[in-house]
Amino acid sequence: MNKSVYDERPFDWVDLSAASDTYPTLFRSFLGSLGPGSQRCEIGCGAGRNLMGIREGAGLAVGVDISFVSARRASAVAPTAQANALRLPFRDGSFDAVVIDGVAHHTPDPRRAIQEAIRITRPGGLVYVAVYKRRTLYAFLYRWVGAILRAFSPSALGRVMNDVLALQVYRRIHYWKREEWRSDEAMRNLYSDYFLTPIASFHSREEVVSWIESAGARVRTTDEFPEGNCRLVIAEREQG
Ligand SMILES: C[S@@+](CC[C@H](N)C(=O)[O-])C[C@H]1O[C@@H](n2cnc3c(N)ncnc32)[C@H](O)[C@@H]1O
Repeated sequence: MNKSVYDERPFDWVDLSAASDTYPTLFRSFLGSLGPGSQRCEIGCGAGRNLMGIREGAGLAVGVDISFVSARRASAVAPTAQANALRLPFRDGSFDAVVIDGVAHHTPDPRRAIQEAIRITRPGGLVYVAVYKRRTLYAFLYRWVGAILRAFSPSALGRVMNDVLALQVYRRIHYWKREEWRSDEAMRNLYSDYFLTPIASFHSREEVVSWIESAGARVRTTDEFPEGNCRLVIAEREQG
């Protein structure tokens, strides 16, 4: 498997002991609805931020990520493996609950990634999906400003420019949005996820709902998550 941008800069920006502070309300309610002892999987687990919550009360919690470095980091939280969201190494219906948060839109085929998440969920089981929304300020910045940042990033000058932007500009935007200061490393990692990651796609509610329904699941709840860039969905895999 090729080295991913997340091998160099894993999505590692939060102290794991405070990971739950970053969970949106809908994710908390998803976690609260999971049965004790249930079998759970996070696809694209990054450095283990969500796995901290997913493993609470689980019979089994596992994570997979295409980035070897991320999967290894998250293995401090739960068992993990390197795997591609588009070809998961699990049988149909393996899990009671599956999370795919901020991942499908970084793959070349987001619809397939969501279908895979639903495929490995048992009938009646729950899937939590978070996908970038269309027509946000961030979508605009990723496409137009990010294209320039990504074009320059392989050069020495580009690396310095991105470092300065991450630590001087992006840090202030992050503070303005969340009222928190993070370490230099955390800011570089977040900035890389937002602007340097080579694939990010943006989707309408109708699109995401149609992918979920065509994969054999029913949408239970959606949340526009106004303060965030993602559309959040809890879906239930149809029985039989
Ligand atoms: C924005 S991070 C989200 C991490 C985690 N879900 C969270 O919310 O903290 C995106 C993650 O998706 C992973 N990823 C990207 N493409 C993937 C793919 N095709 N298969 C599996 N993981 C992938 C990246 O390596 C990265 O760790």
